[in-house]
Amino acid sequence: MFLALCACLMAGVQSHAIDLLPTFGDIDHIHLPALLVQHADGDQSLQLRAQDTTYTDNAQYMETVIATKDLVQPFYVTIHVRQWKAVEITETWYDISHTEKKPVRLQRYDSGYLPINGDNPHLLHLHGNWAAEGVPTVEPLTRGVKAIRNSDGARNAHLDAPEVMIALDGVPQENYGRVLGAALCWSGNFELRVAATDEKGFHFYAGIDPMASEYILEPKKVFSTPHLAYTWSNEGMGGVSRAFHRWARTCGMLHNGNATRDILLNSWEGIYFDITEERILAMMNDIASFGGELFVMDDGWFGAKYQRNSDNAALGDWVVDTRKLPNGLKALTDAAKDRHIKFGIWIEPEATNTLSELYEKHPDCVLQERNRELKLGRGGTQLVLDMTNPKVQDFVFSIVDDLLTKHPEIAYIKWDANASIQNCGSTYLPRDKQSNLYVDYHLGLVKTLERIRAKYPNVVIQNCASGGGRANYGLMPYFDEFWVSDNNDALQRVYIQWGTSYFFPSNAMAQHIGGSPYLMTGRTTPIKFRCDVAMSGRLGMELQPAHMTDEERAQCTVAFADYKELRPLIQLGNLYRLVSPYEPVPVVEKQQVASLLYVNDAKDHAVLFAYGLSSFMKQSSRRIRLAGLDPDRTYTLHEKNIRVAYHHDRNAWGEGEPCELDGKSFTGAYLMSVGLDIPLSTEYNIDYPSRIFELK
Ligand code: DGJ
Repeated sequence: MFLALCACLMAGVQSHAIDLLPTFGDIDHIHLPALLVQHADGDQSLQLRAQDTTYTDNAQYMETVIATKDLVQPFYVTIHVRQWKAVEITETWYDISHTEKKPVRLQRYDSGYLPINGDNPHLLHLHGNWAAEGVPTVEPLTRGVKAIRNSDGARNAHLDAPEVMIALDGVPQENYGRVLGAALCWSGNFELRVAATDEKGFHFYAGIDPMASEYILEPKKVFSTPHLAYTWSNEGMGGVSRAFHRWARTCGMLHNGNATRDILLNSWEGIYFDITEERILAMMNDIASFGGELFVMDDGWFGAKYQRNSDNAALGDWVVDTRKLPNGLKALTDAAKDRHIKFGIWIEPEATNTLSELYEKHPDCVLQERNRELKLGRGGTQLVLDMTNPKVQDFVFSIVDDLLTKHPEIAYIKWDANASIQNCGSTYLPRDKQSNLYVDYHLGLVKTLERIRAKYPNVVIQNCASGGGRANYGLMPYFDEFWVSDNNDALQRVYIQWGTSYFFPSNAMAQHIGGSPYLMTGRTTPIKFRCDVAMSGRLGMELQPAHMTDEERAQCTVAFADYKELRPLIQLGNLYRLVSPYEPVPVVEKQQVASLLYVNDAKDHAVLFAYGLSSFMKQSSRRIRLAGLDPDRTYTLHEKNIRVAYHHDRNAWGEGEPCELDGKSFTGAYLMSVGLDIPLSTEYNIDYPSRIFELK
């Protein structure tokens, strides 16, 4: 499929470059342009013709590089098409340059263009917001132009996200059907478009959103567009997801992609800004006692003149608040060491508050529009630093560098970003290049992250932006994981994690056990359900352990031990989504369930998760058919994270009884065709039943 596509694209290139890159002003006006520029002399046309084609073929990928030039102007575009060998993902991007007399204005500069030839194409895209990320929308593609855009400026995965799937033959199915998956590897504003402006089919374009972003390109400078990554699968959405997961893990698109991640406790929802040494040490004791491996101190630990007691002050003043932590960070890293756990810390390096020493001393360091009042974000005081400015980039680098130089024991950083770009102006960029800001911000951010990674390749860094606001492949190469959502309600997490898994691998997805009743939704869920939901990705906790019951503590201890055994499978296995929580059912009659499975490459080891999402008396259960197994192999089921029971003889919580499926064996063929009746009964039982089985 890839080769055919490439060959067809190449054939087009010999006469003119339109097949790979429709440009404004070339012969074929049927397409919308992927590239529209205004040359130095005012000319708006672009007629690119291939000058030279080179091929690279190495152990990892084959890359075709086509150098093109405009017929008239000294304007050049180099087209890259890189096909990875270990995984069916292709990346495409353009390097744009010129030697015209004055700057050229890039008015639209997409990363890629693909023709879509399907009889009944349907689009799947992810929408969401703070605490409600990753909601899939599926819709038929019709005539006209459908655009998915994000113009937050700093975070691009809240509201609409830069990844889509397009099924060619109707509503996309999980395990079959022809589906294209595409992700724009960029953390800034974007626009993904599907255009059907004539009878010749559909055309897909993806790139940086040109709104307020006409890019002023100086002569001899090269502007490289972000990469567009895409795959075609005949195995439905599941096939697309697995290709993206493999690519993320093995092609450098996720930092340390093939490594597993630790089980952690994060302090945020347990104590918020009320950090004291005593509370932190107590939380460390707790996570260590459950068998956890890492403690992360979230927001609230810093500030000198201004204290960080709420979200309105001290960002930028990255010194320990000795009123809260009199013995500094060293006392905490030492304490972690004593408890045989690692220590991590929260920062929000790209931001400041008007109430901060940083802002008082360096008011120029923030994004601002000349002669206009500042628009203030979170806490009524938050501002975004001007990452286009190399001095600000140095400062952001130094935040991480100072922390890690002074405290080399810090093993983990949570890098947060809680503000949009509301002030679209820079005192660093010249007046005639203000429209470069939205793009140069992210180029500056990536440059800084590259420096950090060059010096600190082994520190685990979490990508957080008010939850999952920056879950994108533009930033993932520099991060080991991302915070999926600020919403830790286990029921809603089933849905959020489901949508997020369409493109992102499980070892990157930070999933935490929250408190109950949960503070945002008021919902009460059993501890087993909360553990089971969090265990399907990178497991952690986000609560105050001091408030946990003995039952909750006992269950978490079992969950952590079982998770450690299953971790390579969960975090690095191949994902098969079995039953979608979005599947419509007559809910009082039939139980709403969600189920997913991870299988190793050898197909001799798998783990199955099943969640009951609705509970009504006499509701019929659901048979769950597995996928991705070897039909000829026999698998034995072992129940995991079994619900704990109270042992009256010992006056303590301890191991409970497994269900009747435990120890039973079935062939892969049976499991995939007949399926399992997993005991998720709600009669005389608790709400939100769930089960985990290991299959060997
Ligand atoms: C937003 C993040 O998503 C939360 O997890 C937490 O770190 C807060 N910021 C802290 O201010």
